[in-house]
Amino acid sequence: MPIAGWRRCASLLARCRELFSRSPKGVPYCPTPFAVARQMLEFASVTPGDVLYDLGSGDGRVAILAAQEFGCRAVGVEINGKLWRESSEQARRLGLEGQVEFRQGSFFETDVRAATVVTLYLLTATNGALQFHLASQLRAGARVVTVDYPVPGWRAEQQVEVKSENNVSYTLFLYRRQAAPAVEAATAARLREV
Ligand SMILES: C[S@@+](CC[C@H](N)C(=O)[O-])C[C@H]1O[C@@H](n2cnc3c(N)ncnc32)[C@H](O)[C@@H]1O
Repeated sequence: MPIAGWRRCASLLARCRELFSRSPKGVPYCPTPFAVARQMLEFASVTPGDVLYDLGSGDGRVAILAAQEFGCRAVGVEINGKLWRESSEQARRLGLEGQVEFRQGSFFETDVRAATVVTLYLLTATNGALQFHLASQLRAGARVVTVDYPVPGWRAEQQVEVKSENNVSYTLFLYRRQAAPAVEAATAARLREV
């Protein structure tokens, strides 16, 4: 395909991602049950030294739980203004302002370089659209945990079935950002396979 064609494809793709990222309806709001959120944070071995980002933070429960029970700093990013306000108010009510921050906006435009743990309860397609952003910003060793929907193209280090307080099954996927040379080697190996 001529270079102009590739450029047109790339700009169309960027436009689609931009439109999707601006749509609060892209991923519906559906809170992770508390029991599942707790097991997700245990599964990611969250410690007080971590900085956790919950991308699409809903009512803020994951970030708040991480701060309250695991002692880490947490950032929630939420596009929906009502949910963002509610989660910010809840953090204030609980006296967690210094430890938990909620940002209103799109996770596609959020700087996640400070994160050591990222939690996602999004759709597979959204995880797929986010993976390049995450891969380009996350430091080596950072963990990404997803609920129910994997990140397409990434190999999960571990996968586990957990139950909610109502005995509903959920699957958790744990990924770890590799050091850059390993990622480059894997990419090169994949390219050689093609
Ligand atoms: C399935 S809910 C998960 C909520 C929370 N993380 C939890 O586990 O309880 C997904 C959330 O992502 C939010 N969302 C969707 N697209 C978004 C975007 N581009 N940027 C930030 N938040 C987004 C939705 O408004 C919704 O609250």
